[in-house]
Parts: sequence; structure tokens; C-alpha cells
Amino acid sequence: MALISVNTNSRPSFDKIRGISKIINVPFSIVKNKNELNKKEIEFILDEAKKFINFNKKRVKKSNLLEGRTIFNLFFEDSTRTRTSFEVAAKRLGADLINVAVKDSSINKGETLLDTMTTINSMNPDVLIVRHPEEGISKRISNNVDACVINAGDGSHEHPTQALLDALTIKNRFNNFSKLQIAICGDILHSRVARSNIIILSKLGAKVNVIGPKQWLPKNINKLPVEVYTDMKKGLKNCDIVMMLRIQKERIVGKIMPNQKTYFNKYGLDYNKLKYAKKNAFVMHPGPMNRGVEIDSKLADDITRSLIQEQVAMGVAIRMACLDILIKNRDNVLSY
Ligand code: CP
Repeated sequence: MALISVNTNSRPSFDKIRGISKIINVPFSIVKNKNELNKKEIEFILDEAKKFINFNKKRVKKSNLLEGRTIFNLFFEDSTRTRTSFEVAAKRLGADLINVAVKDSSINKGETLLDTMTTINSMNPDVLIVRHPEEGISKRISNNVDACVINAGDGSHEHPTQALLDALTIKNRFNNFSKLQIAICGDILHSRVARSNIIILSKLGAKVNVIGPKQWLPKNINKLPVEVYTDMKKGLKNCDIVMMLRIQKERIVGKIMPNQKTYFNKYGLDYNKLKYAKKNAFVMHPGPMNRGVEIDSKLADDITRSLIQEQVAMGVAIRMACLDILIKNRDNVLSY
């Protein structure tokens, strides 16, 4: 019994996902890459995800929408939110999800990543969910397997389902993106969350400000649809949402890290700096957060201002929608 009906007639064409790369991806370079989601497709995913929000609040959270489907979680980097929410999403839809313990896999015996992926592909999975430190790896894998591939974060490059869940969280509060001003603050250079959010939020019509220390702003930032600031007071002016980022220590190798207290004083969000934004502005953070480094601990836990836990809840809904859309799309192409 399907608990959630999906109107296939209202679907936009997902050729970009199914035909070329079978991948959910939102590239940093909006000019060069032709495989990115367009506004209509992003809105469609958000609408589909909305259907799962109430479902996820039910006492019994079980559907058979993806019964008998096989999904692999392949995480080559640490994760709490993304890995577990994909697992919860898949299981709530009735799919079988296999968590591959990468640290115990044959990669340790010298097998290449692509050999591992083609081995798993021979087991006829429907979706591979991949997190890996190498930029663009999901796309390379996608070119070598029949299964759909979801990019769950590739290096400093992209984290598309994070940006989609952030957009859903914002949509729940504001509905209309075209009137919104959103600040993304902190370590922009090393943040895949920032890149995917800039693309998705600007496509939905929001005005995006990025704020961070000069050394953590990408060289080509001016080519993106953003206003750039190094000063929190100026950058937060008129903002409805303040999205904080973690300092990506694991990607800052061989460079001097700022003193945490000095960084917090200049770029950490607390109640005082939040006053620079609109009166009732909301605070977001993709997690994991470093309390007292990029965000004040009390503010992070203040449910009147912070949407951080709501983001986690929306992560499950978005990932349910992504899995459902990708697999249904694949069925149309492959016609089992
Ligand atoms: N936001 C995010 O990607 O969190 P995890 O690293 O815990 O998956």
C-alpha cells in the first residue's frame, strides 16, 4: 500500500539526472556544467519532500514506495547527519539499505575505488550514495555504473542534498524565496555546503551574501550570484537568514589556523552580531557545529531563532524525495 501518492504527470523532465549522469548534483561552476538541476527541478524536489514531512511525524513511519529496492551507503569520510538520514529515509520507504564499512573494505588491499564501485554495481543496486574527499568523484563513478549515484559530499566541491534540505527548511518558514536575503558566513572557500547553497538559493530567487575572512573567500567568488563581504555588520544587514559554516579544519592543511577566540570575536555568530540582521532573522548551520568557534552555544540551542534541528528533520524528508524521484525516474528509463 502506497502511503504517499506521487503525481507523475506534474513531473518535469529529469533528463539531466537520468540520461547523462544519473546523479543528483549541483555544480559549483554554473556556467560550464550542463548537468545541474534547474529551478523547476529544484522546486519539484522540494514539493515532493514536503509530502514526507508529516509522514515522518507519524507514530508508524513505514511505506512500501521503494520496497525491494537496494541502496548502498558508501561513505569514505566521516558523517553523522547525511549517512544516518539517508539510511532512515531509505528504510522508511521500504528499501533495503546496506552501509558499506569502507574502512574494512578491499580498498585497504589495493582495490581501486572504481573497481569497488563496479563490484557493488554488479549486485544490481538502484542507488549508490557516495561521500568522498575527492572533488567530482560521484560523477566519475556515475559514468562507470548503472545505478543512480547521489553525491553526499565531495571534498570542498558540493553537497547538493544539504542545500536542498536547507532550502526546504527556509521554504517552511518563508515560502517565497524572491523576497529573501540570506547570509552564508565563515569558511566559504572549503565549504561544499556554501557552494551548493549559493547555486540552489540563488536559482530559487533569493539574494545571497557571503561573509568571511578574505583568505577563506574563493578567488572566483565574484563570478557567482552573490554579494561578498568581509565584515559581519555590513554583510548581515537586512538578512532574513544567517547560515553559519564550520571551519573545515580537515581541508586546511599546511596553513596557519586563526586563533579560535579571535575568529569568534570577528566572525562567530552570537546574539549581538545577530542584531545586525533583520529583527526576527533565523539562524542555520549544516552541522557538525563547533560551539564557541563559529556559533554561540546558547544561540545554537535557542529554538525561537535557531533552525538547526529543523534542518536535520528536513534532511530525512529531502532524502526520501531524492531516492523516490531517482528510482522512479530510472524505472521509466529502464522499464523493468
Ligand atoms: N551536514 C553534514 O553533512 O553533516 P555530516 O557530516 O554529519 O553528514
